Amino acid sequence: MKRNANRPIGVFDSGVGGLTVAHAIKQRLPEESMIYFGDTAHLPYGEKSPEAILRYAERITRFLINQNCKMVVIACNTASSVAYIPLKEKFGEEVEIVNVIDPVVEYYLDHLAPARVGVIGTKATIRAGVYEKKIRENNPEARVFSKATPLLVPMIEEGFIFDDISNAVIRAYLSDEPLHSVEALILGCTHYPIIKNQISRFYNFSIEILDSAAIVARAVKELLTGKNLLYKEGSGKDVFFVSDYTEYFEKISGMFFEKTLTLKKLDLWKDG
Ligand code: DGL
Repeated sequence: MKRNANRPIGVFDSGVGGLTVAHAIKQRLPEESMIYFGDTAHLPYGEKSPEAILRYAERITRFLINQNCKMVVIACNTASSVAYIPLKEKFGEEVEIVNVIDPVVEYYLDHLAPARVGVIGTKATIRAGVYEKKIRENNPEARVFSKATPLLVPMIEEGFIFDDISNAVIRAYLSDEPLHSVEALILGCTHYPIIKNQISRFYNFSIEILDSAAIVARAVKELLTGKNLLYKEGSGKDVFFVSDYTEYFEKISGMFFEKTLTLKKLDLWKDG
């Protein structure tokens, strides 16, 4: 692995969700440059088979390595659930690979366990059961309740946020037990921080809602520091790629980064 720190951090997701993580990394590490890839052509990952998700994740990781990235952050719970271990086996010698699940599980175990915790995510994430497994392995007393909430990603990607439709969908998913009476909730999808405030309001702001953005950004800094790869003198240039152009991506990325981002369309699958 190349040891020079002045290389960019690669971040990818199926769409806008990973921008929640990308933004948190930028806030913590403004000098670092970033290359973001939103695989909008294959969104939503949560409805795809593990084989398809792995195929997309491998192609994007190879692209980010070719762009000279020192680290690849899988800013997607679905891809982290099914592709993290194979990606690490395949590319771990060439690049640091970070998933968004481990840092959140660690946070729960260190600060909240064994509180009754809910996990919401895409169908593929909940089917893989990685949160439950990792939490239970480390603390058998912990009570974890998972639920797939597949409407949330298309709802967010279509711009239904802070309105009656999103409130109704959130209520429909979270009103039943055991989720209604959990003491903490893990947002197991990087799209969900966009509606975190609404979810908190559903619980009358009375429980801790954990999302990966800030927790993962802290883990990224720790890992870069530990590996001597932190770059403090850079000017933080970022490039954003999407596999298919969507107007909403541009709009929401502007919301996060307080400026309109220039998106570059790049079809990594052009030749099959
Ligand atoms: N943002 C993603 C996640 O964290 C994926 C959503 C999707 O494409 O289904 O799971």
